[in-house]
Amino acid sequence: VLIIYLNGVYLPYDQARIHPEDRGFLLADGIYEVIRFYGGRPFLQVEHLDRLQRSADAVRLPLPSRDLFSRVIDELLTTNDLLSDDGTIYIQVTRGAYTPRTHWFPAGETEPTLLIIARKSAPMDPALREAGVSAVTLPDNRWDRCDIKSIGLLPNVLAKQAAIDAGAYEAVFVRDGRVTEGSSTNIFGVLNGVIRTHPADNRILCGITRNHALRLAAAQGFEIREEALTREETFRCSELFLTSTTSEVLPITALDGRPVGTGRPGPMTQKLYEAFQDSIAENGAANPAD
Ligand SMILES: Cc1ncc(COP(=O)(O)O)c(C=O)c1O
Repeated sequence: VLIIYLNGVYLPYDQARIHPEDRGFLLADGIYEVIRFYGGRPFLQVEHLDRLQRSADAVRLPLPSRDLFSRVIDELLTTNDLLSDDGTIYIQVTRGAYTPRTHWFPAGETEPTLLIIARKSAPMDPALREAGVSAVTLPDNRWDRCDIKSIGLLPNVLAKQAAIDAGAYEAVFVRDGRVTEGSSTNIFGVLNGVIRTHPADNRILCGITRNHALRLAAAQGFEIREEALTREETFRCSELFLTSTTSEVLPITALDGRPVGTGRPGPMTQKLYEAFQDSIAENGAANPAD
């Protein structure tokens, strides 16, 4: 049975209990992170833990030390025999349990609830990657602190479900005529040979994979502009792709039922995906443990 970490204790998954009045459950008063591991090694962990700290600071939530996160992650990977597997580490921190329910912060009385789960994930269907995925645009009706990785994900959940109902893989949010990001991904386009993506401001979650892809693109010598694409511009892009911790770099080959470029994954997207895979391999090679 899977061993997880909850509030200082390692315990079997089916024995974990969360308080019924946890503020995460009642108010979505919490934040989270998802870190990928490949061959048992966390990928871009420092960047993810930095972002967790930024989210925590933004919502005034105290976090345990960086060292504790590293130790727990290592322990979960080892205990669950995940050292040669690929998967995800889910971290959630909420403002804890307090009675009675209030909107304001309970004065000094809550202990944050900290949950960490590491588990194996199934590899993505290679056919999906080869053909690329479809996406649909939807109005971005979220708040203006999308830079916080909040567990309050209803708009994202509804958008993703609307995409699935429309037979698509991802929902692409559009605000004031401009593409912000996907429901759980960042969106890139290639227009006139230049890679474009929304700047890392309060309108998007600044993806760790986004930043990594931008570094890889720069190393390839690709021209990059962090300037949002209008919805109209996306239809003139020769390539579109999305990035996320779980989807990596994934081509979007149809948007709102129209083919993107040739309707096949484009060469720059392909190059970036290959560079991404190389960087995963280097992540393994950098660790002398094996
Ligand atoms: C709204 C949103 N944008 C972008 C991303 C991609 O971020 P990352 O690359 O750090 O996984 C996510 C990931 O969950 C997300 O929820």
